[in-house]
Amino acid sequence: MKALIINCSPVRTGATAEIVNIIDNELSLRYDTKSICIDDYDLKFCKGCRSCHKTAKCIMDDDIIKIMNEFDAADVIVSVAPSYWADIPGQYKAFIDRCTPWCDTHEPHASIKEGKKGYSVALRTGPGMHECERIIQSIEHFYGHLHIECMGHLGLTSIEFKDNVEPRKDEIISFCKNI
Ligand SMILES: Cc1cc2nc3c(=O)[nH]c(=O)nc-3n(C[C@H](O)[C@H](O)[C@H](O)COP(=O)(O)O)c2cc1C
Repeated sequence: MKALIINCSPVRTGATAEIVNIIDNELSLRYDTKSICIDDYDLKFCKGCRSCHKTAKCIMDDDIIKIMNEFDAADVIVSVAPSYWADIPGQYKAFIDRCTPWCDTHEPHASIKEGKKGYSVALRTGPGMHECERIIQSIEHFYGHLHIECMGHLGLTSIEFKDNVEPRKDEIISFCKNI
C-alpha cells in the first residue's frame, strides 16, 4: 500500500516539512511512502476557461499531470497545510483549482482510481482551532470532488517554526496510528 504525504507549504524546511517528515517516518513502518512539496512543481494558475468541462483536459501543459500521477499511485493521501492568512497557502489553492478536469461536478471529467483514503493536517501559529478547521474543510472539500474518502484530520495550533513541532511529536504519531 502506498502513502503520499504532501507538504502544502512552499517552505521546504519549515514546520510543515517537519510534520511531513514525522508522518513519513511513522507511515513508512506500514506503507510504501512518498513525500512531495507543492513548490517542487511548475503549476500555472487556472484561467477559468472551462475547456475541461467539455474535454476533461486542461489546455495548459505543466506539472499538474505529474502530481495527479502521484495521487493515482497512492492508496492514502495526507495533505499537511499551514495557515497562510487563515487559509491554505496559495500554491496549494492554485493546485486545487487546476484539478478542475478531475472534478466530478461536470461530465466528462477525468478520474483518479476509486478507493483512496484522505487525511488532512492543518497547523497555525495562533491559538484557536477555527482556522485549522477552515483549512481542513478546504482540503476535505477538494478530496470529496475527487472521490477521495475523508478518513481523519488533525489541527495543530501554536506552531510557527520547525522547533515548535518536536514537543507535538506524540500527538502527530498518535494521529498516524489511525492511518
Ligand atoms: C504568509 C504567511 C501567512 C500566515 N498567516 C497566518 C495566519 O493567518 N494565522 C496563523 O495562525 N498563522 C499564520 N502564519 C503562520 C504559519 O501558519 C506558521 O508559521 C506555520 O508553521 C508555517 O509553516 P511553514 O513554515 O512550513 O510554511 C502565516 C505564515 C506566513 C508565512
